[in-house]
Amino acid sequence: MPRLLLAIESSCDETAAAVIDETLAVRSSVVASQFDRHAAFGGVVPEIASRAHLENLIPVLAEACEQAGVALDDLDAVAVTVRPGLVGSLLVGLTAAKTLAWTLGVPLLAVDHVHAHLYACRMDAGREIFPAVGLVVSGGHTSLYDCRSATEFELIGATIDDAAGEAFDKAAAILGLGYPGGPAISEAATRGNADAVALPRPMKSDGLDFSFSGLKTAIRYAALGQPNKPAPPLTNDRIADLAASFQAAVVDVLVAKCRRALKQTGRTRLCLGGGVAANRALRDGLSAMADKADIELFVAPMSMCTDNAAMAGMAWEAFQAGQFAPLDLDVKPGLVRAKHITRPT
Ligand code: KG4
Ligand code: ZN
Repeated sequence: MPRLLLAIESSCDETAAAVIDETLAVRSSVVASQFDRHAAFGGVVPEIASRAHLENLIPVLAEACEQAGVALDDLDAVAVTVRPGLVGSLLVGLTAAKTLAWTLGVPLLAVDHVHAHLYACRMDAGREIFPAVGLVVSGGHTSLYDCRSATEFELIGATIDDAAGEAFDKAAAILGLGYPGGPAISEAATRGNADAVALPRPMKSDGLDFSFSGLKTAIRYAALGQPNKPAPPLTNDRIADLAASFQAAVVDVLVAKCRRALKQTGRTRLCLGGGVAANRALRDGLSAMADKADIELFVAPMSMCTDNAAMAGMAWEAFQAGQFAPLDLDVKPGLVRAKHITRPT
């Protein structure tokens, strides 16, 4: 009988728990979204998020165990996201995980949420996918990694301002498409012309870092105009064209950065994770580039693109390497910039 891991994720605005066995089979995966509580603000409000995690966590844990048909006593380890994320939100998950690990007498394992977004590809592939270049595009992160192994990720590029998902969310707000913006923009884009509006490709030909704030300003001007330069009326057709043009600009930059990272590292595999990995145009763009350059592409399954705890099955790698976390482990809200080995410190 394979051993069982309970994983907890509370880094941002989803309260999630999953039971994963050591063959990486996901026995249950439960996500409680706080979407409704933040929608009116157009983004995640940290204090609201941590209070909602407090309310949601125990029911979510209970549901994950029930769906998997396991009792707490059946668990062999507890894993939890400790970085990066909102400090209050991370603390709720970590406190629950420590309590469970201590009372059950099982090991505690620390998970880096951004690495786990890439590990979703490994969970889905059912075989080794590393070494690889990894791109994580989410609401909070746009990061490129040289993934040397399943436990050794070196950050080689990151956004210097907005994250890709954040840019989608802000562009959608400008276009009146609601929150979260990614799905709304991609839906509107299907009806628009990606060449209709000329938008910049910030830092496209410059290194491995990203910048999306200039693109956000450009779409604001294109949609709403400037004092001496009025914009065409924001009809449904115009909104669709702006959405398609914006999406094409983001995809263009992301594809170019991946191509460069693959060239620089010499890797022949690329993996894609994070909420924006659900974007069809991005998947298609990377797939075309990968075909041309003879690169093997791994994309997180739709169910593991946005935040969930199943991708924290990554903790089995730490378990097998004996990288257990101490019970005085703390959260680390910031992104780990330097070369980082997935080991609790
Ligand atoms: O990974 P995630 O659930 O949360 C973070 O860890 O940040 O990603 C959420 C982000 C949001 O910004 C959302 O707009 C974006 O992923 N997103 C998309 C799509 N679906 C979700 N962006 C573009 N196209 C999509 N289809
Ligand atoms: Zn995430």
